[in-house]
Amino acid sequence: MKFQPYNRLRVLAVCFGICFSQIIFSQTNISIDTKVNTLLSKMTLEEKIGQMNQYNGFWEVTGPTPKEGNAKEKYDHLKKGMVGAVLNVKGVENVRKLQEIVVNETRLGIPLLFGFDVIHGHKTLFPIPLASACSWDLDAIEKSAHIAAIEASAVGINWTFAPMVDITRDARWGRVMEGAGEDPYLGSKIGAAQIRGFQGTDLASNSSIIACVKHFAGYGFAESGRDYNTVDVGTSTLYNIILPPFKAAVESDVKTVMNSFNVLNGIPATSNKFLQRDILKGKWDFRGFVVSDWGSGYEMIDHGYAKDLKHAAELAANAGSDMDMESYSYVRHLKQLVDEGKVDIKVIDEAVRRILRIKFELGLFDNPYKYCDAKREKELIYHADNIAASLDMAKKSIVLLKNENNLLPLAKTQKNIAVIGALANDKNSPLGSWRIGSDDNTAISVLEGLKNIGANITYAKGADLITTPTSFSEEVKINETDKSEFAAAIKLAKKSNVVIMVLGEHGFQSGEGRSRSKLDLPGVQQQLLEAIYKVNKNIILVLMNGRPLAITWANEHIPAIVEAWQLGSQTGNAIASTLFGDNNPSAKITMSFPRSVGQVPIYYNHYNTGRPGPKSEVFWSHYGDESNKPLYPFGYGLSYSKFEYSNLKIDDSNPKKIKITVAIKNTSAVAGEEIAQLYIHQKTASVVRPVKELKGFSKIKIGAGETKEVVLYLTDKELGFYSNNGDFIVEAGTFDVMVGTSSEDVLSGSFYKN
Ligand code: NOJ
Repeated sequence: MKFQPYNRLRVLAVCFGICFSQIIFSQTNISIDTKVNTLLSKMTLEEKIGQMNQYNGFWEVTGPTPKEGNAKEKYDHLKKGMVGAVLNVKGVENVRKLQEIVVNETRLGIPLLFGFDVIHGHKTLFPIPLASACSWDLDAIEKSAHIAAIEASAVGINWTFAPMVDITRDARWGRVMEGAGEDPYLGSKIGAAQIRGFQGTDLASNSSIIACVKHFAGYGFAESGRDYNTVDVGTSTLYNIILPPFKAAVESDVKTVMNSFNVLNGIPATSNKFLQRDILKGKWDFRGFVVSDWGSGYEMIDHGYAKDLKHAAELAANAGSDMDMESYSYVRHLKQLVDEGKVDIKVIDEAVRRILRIKFELGLFDNPYKYCDAKREKELIYHADNIAASLDMAKKSIVLLKNENNLLPLAKTQKNIAVIGALANDKNSPLGSWRIGSDDNTAISVLEGLKNIGANITYAKGADLITTPTSFSEEVKINETDKSEFAAAIKLAKKSNVVIMVLGEHGFQSGEGRSRSKLDLPGVQQQLLEAIYKVNKNIILVLMNGRPLAITWANEHIPAIVEAWQLGSQTGNAIASTLFGDNNPSAKITMSFPRSVGQVPIYYNHYNTGRPGPKSEVFWSHYGDESNKPLYPFGYGLSYSKFEYSNLKIDDSNPKKIKITVAIKNTSAVAGEEIAQLYIHQKTASVVRPVKELKGFSKIKIGAGETKEVVLYLTDKELGFYSNNGDFIVEAGTFDVMVGTSSEDVLSGSFYKN
């Protein structure tokens, strides 16, 4: 028998209940690269290919039913060392079971990676990422990710498929809920904070898990906002908008990158050499590994790029996609492709080296069961600290969109409050879309939150939002017709002093595969809103949704509007404390809200046209039936405090570090937090520059009546941009500088840079 000494060692290892590889690879004085090379030199080609293969587990499914394979074959492959990672397996017992198979029954005992979509918390759910992005609070976002990592690691998971850093400009796309919005500067900072939170400062810790930045690249630019659709973007957008958050993630030492389902300019991302070899692993020197998205290997056949699954394996491996998720293309065909000389063994070795390195860095060879501690699982899930952090993040994510005549906050003594809307009494929808690790119906509903705070409320549903209970993999069925409960709600509204209407989308209306062609309030909700408005104008509209909505009518008529997104486990408590003033809202939207769906894609950092207008004649860039402006611009959000900006100063005496200062006065009687935003615009450049680009921000607490000075700096890093060849350049010229409370409400100045 081959490898006799190793087999003996393996038997020994099994007897002592430890991993075979642990015996040879746990010495600390040997570098990881040496350990990786030593292990690699002992692996057969099949074992190497096994490391490049990831299977979906046997419990949950987060994608279409695989076209190949079955559970029996998977177990068989697991035992033969033909699997390097699994996904969607959770729970210490389940994870241990599978880890034991590879550790004890395979020749080399190389531990598995356990991947999972830990997107906005694991058990304790935080606000959907689009919501928490609105906090602009990098520390809180990092903390949320860290708590997600603590809970995920406690159930055996060591790899999350997050953060999603796809920049998105199209609210029709369902996955806008999973990202940070439309801005690459803010998106880069937020992605980096999430990576810090997941990976921690020491990967060897059993509460650190590896992050996976996704989807490389362009997925957020799906045509017409329809998920999985074609992506065709120009070089300037690719280099300046789409790629920067990925680059920032690599600079933050993200350990894995997921490629994506889409084609980018005609080439599927999964087999895109330019993206994966030239940019990611070349220019950016990324040292981790690339995983495909679910079945994106075989999807290349439908794209019309790969002839068959074997061809898909050849294209993807050669293009630098190191691990195949659930398409079976590598496990079925890579060996033959190497034998035929179509894939060089060097390609395989490089991919396996990358994967093994991460397993070593995670400490899995020292202890493959480091995430299998039943005591941690019991103690850390839904821990009180996690719940408190989720509440804090939820409060920080709520955006006050309108507050005419200071209708909000409500006095604690306010009597006769009607609460209307099915979402007010929903404990499931506010958990959002990506929550497969958590438990259904565990959100504090708005009604519960209001009761917890002792509010004097009476509830009427008004109308159902959905007709049938729904789940992660089903199309949501909306109530489009049933208005039978309108009358009771109207009656209640008539006799109430104030009406809180909780309307919006179901949590499963956004997320993967959940694009919409309309951006209105789904179903009969708009009719309900208008019917209530007829009898009581004193309405506070609380919106729950996973994307910007076109709520133009509401903005014109309803005095107070609160954007509450899907806030996770503590939804109701966060909303109640905001409505009654215990929480002073400070968040600002990170995606523009359109007035109508026809404006989409709409985003603040657009280029100018040659005919910007407005003009009295018709020949300028505009719509005949709609304004060019969004309903609410990027960076917009109100507070119960009032902030006044003054005294913008630009000190360019040090051209390498331009100093910008501005004074902000809280003119109200309430202490609050403000997010001051710094934008620039280079007037002329060799590639035209957007009308405005965010290049700095500061979130500060300002006491009632107090004035604070904010100082921000601009260096070449902020002033430069990517040319159409992908080179970062800084050009001399005049720069407008704008500082303010939103992308549209700013003080302006300028300076010349030599
Ligand atoms: C497909 C999604 O696009 C990706 O983001 C996710 O991580 C995988 N499925 C695994 O569930």
